[in-house]
Amino acid sequence: MNRIGHKAARSTGVLILAAGQGTRMESSIPKILHPVGGRPIIYYVLRVANALKPAAIGVVVGHEAEEVKKAILQIAKDCGISRPLQFIEQKKQLGSGNAVLESVPFLKKFSSAMVLCGDTPLLTYESLASLHRGHEEHKAQATLLTARMGNPKGYGRIVRTATGDVLKIVEESVATPKEAAINEINSGAYCFEVAALLSGLSQIGAKGPKGEHFLTDILELVRTKGGRIIAHLSSNPEEALGINTRVQLAAAERIINRRMLERLMLSGVTVVDPSSTHVDADVEVGQDSIIEPFTILRGKTKVGSKCRVGPFCFIEDAQVGNECEVRTSQLRGCRVLEKCVIGPYSNIRPESVIGPRAKVGNFSEVKASRVGFGSKVPHLSYIGDTDIREDVNVGAGSITCNYDGKLKHKTTIEAKAFIGSGTMMVAPLRVGKGAVTGAGAVVTRDVPDGVTVVGVPAKPIVRGGGK
Ligand code: UD1
Ligand code: MG
Repeated sequence: MNRIGHKAARSTGVLILAAGQGTRMESSIPKILHPVGGRPIIYYVLRVANALKPAAIGVVVGHEAEEVKKAILQIAKDCGISRPLQFIEQKKQLGSGNAVLESVPFLKKFSSAMVLCGDTPLLTYESLASLHRGHEEHKAQATLLTARMGNPKGYGRIVRTATGDVLKIVEESVATPKEAAINEINSGAYCFEVAALLSGLSQIGAKGPKGEHFLTDILELVRTKGGRIIAHLSSNPEEALGINTRVQLAAAERIINRRMLERLMLSGVTVVDPSSTHVDADVEVGQDSIIEPFTILRGKTKVGSKCRVGPFCFIEDAQVGNECEVRTSQLRGCRVLEKCVIGPYSNIRPESVIGPRAKVGNFSEVKASRVGFGSKVPHLSYIGDTDIREDVNVGAGSITCNYDGKLKHKTTIEAKAFIGSGTMMVAPLRVGKGAVTGAGAVVTRDVPDGVTVVGVPAKPIVRGGGK
């Protein structure tokens, strides 16, 4: 594959425009930081830019610049953005043309530049690589990625001559009805010969109701100076989707989800009903796992192979080992090790580790606790700040009373202990190895190994004590 920063002599920089406020989102959050597929919109643009291996990536920031920079640096760290990253400040958001004008010192370092909008997360590596290839092969001064949209509303329209050459891009706010009827639109992804770009940039005037400088006006300027402009029509119009409103955000979410589900299915995961299944962009699922309907896998969730997950599961930032069954349950920030059975209706909360071969069942909640090898919490329990060792059985309705109103306390239940139904374990507490609590016991003191306690408050049964 032709990497775009390959030859130093004809090096390419990528410039991402991300300074806009995103007024149409009606939000206090900068537009490009809104999550889609579990990641900020800008993440996808940075990821595809990085994959192209340009000489450097410049990001134009302006609205809430500090917050945006911080988020981008975090993304770069999390996702291994390997190309040199540089921020360019656009002091006033005077339009995309002005954003590029402010970037001249960055652009000057390269012979060609790819310009992308920060709000187009669906652009694919293949399209951008071929956009760049076409640009270089034709020795064009400007090459743009276009698409035919069923509903072109809101996008810049591509006006062509009778012979099919690109004449100009007309923004909707200044388009004539005839121009507005054109369904070929500008995706906002372009390659420029830097010299041609720089020679026209400063001539872009203010236009439209807000007096903005439209980057798209550069094409007409390049053309009138004798430059060659090429339009590269995308075969897949959905990738040109730009997010200006929350309606478009939801449309992008649907597409990212579909792409993700297709990737999982093609890698050997059964998704019983893709239309009711939601999987974020970074989720991993192993081969021969089955995802049942109405299941949501979010964030950095990893599910092993040969698992059955769903129906009706919500799993976020959690790891599920191989051969687990998780039904109608919520798992967040926890680890479920192999061959466990979870649910129905369990809530496994952050910092919990379950298994291997453990069971947490009907209406049981586990918080910041370990449930050891082969142990069972099958019915109606609350287990908090607890270490349950191996082969423990926790009877129905048992609770670790971890909170005294001021502080949280820990409970340890040693191996092979048997907790009778409805036991209240008042922490801090240690229930010894092989110890037993009777049904309904309220255990307020440590239970030594092998001892059985009953009653309220629970006391040891004295065996052979006589009458
Ligand atoms: C833009 C294009 C339009 C194209 C569409 C594709 C222009 C004038 N129009 O319209 O032809 O069809 O994208 O999605 O470019 N930005 C800045 N500084 C500014 C203004 C904007 O950095 O002063 C950034 C924004 O953060 C955004 C990008 O430029 O990432 C595009 O701006 P936006 O307002 O979304 O333009 P559109 O109306 O979508
Ligand atoms: Mg936009």
